[in-house]
Amino acid sequence: MEQEWKRSPRVDSAPARGLLRSMQSDIERVLFDEPAIHKRLDEMAAQITADYRGRELTVIAVLSGTLMFTSDLLRRIPLPLKLDCLSAVSYHGSAQTSGQVIFKDADFPDVAGGDVLIVDDILDTGHTLAAVREKLETAKSRSVRVCVLLSKRKERAREIDPDYIGFEIEDEFVVGYGLDFMERYRNLPYIGVLRKELLQQPIR
Ligand code: IMP
Ligand code: MG
Repeated sequence: MEQEWKRSPRVDSAPARGLLRSMQSDIERVLFDEPAIHKRLDEMAAQITADYRGRELTVIAVLSGTLMFTSDLLRRIPLPLKLDCLSAVSYHGSAQTSGQVIFKDADFPDVAGGDVLIVDDILDTGHTLAAVREKLETAKSRSVRVCVLLSKRKERAREIDPDYIGFEIEDEFVVGYGLDFMERYRNLPYIGVLRKELLQQPIR
């Protein structure tokens, strides 16, 4: 795995190597390394750019998991656009979604008349994106599309059919590149499967 990770010269620095050493024993295997993620982002950004040329694009990023994804994706989209962020929580400190989605923001972004692209890190049960979509229903936007970096192959509690998907993955718990387990691992530059026994840990 270290081999794979070192392929990117940008992350092959002393702090990055320290980060890797301290967390890599928790990772069962790497699914997508940094070059693979960036290659896929080039393709997604090209598609989004073609689809939204000449339109009023407003991106709504669902924080915190989309931080890296949104920042890397939007810098590849050469269109005038607006960015708004939403903070949604459904996990409440475990590896199982509670199904109850809480928005931390007092105000929802004003998207009236605009073409909205919701960006989320991973589609799992569908609760989060369904809740965001419901909030947008009253906002009178011109169009709403959904973009996710990862989509788990599984049956969902809520039906969501994203317009843009980075990678489809099996139903496993993954971390890195913004994705967390109990707020950790977000700063790993790759996406990897967390060792199963760590998911059973008591919540501190
Ligand atoms: P959903 O509401 O069940 O679709 O889950 C969406 C949210 O749960 C995502 O935005 C993530 O924050 C979190 N999530 C779901 N699966 C994973 C995972 O495998 N790793 C890390 N976070 C996840
Ligand atoms: Mg999360």
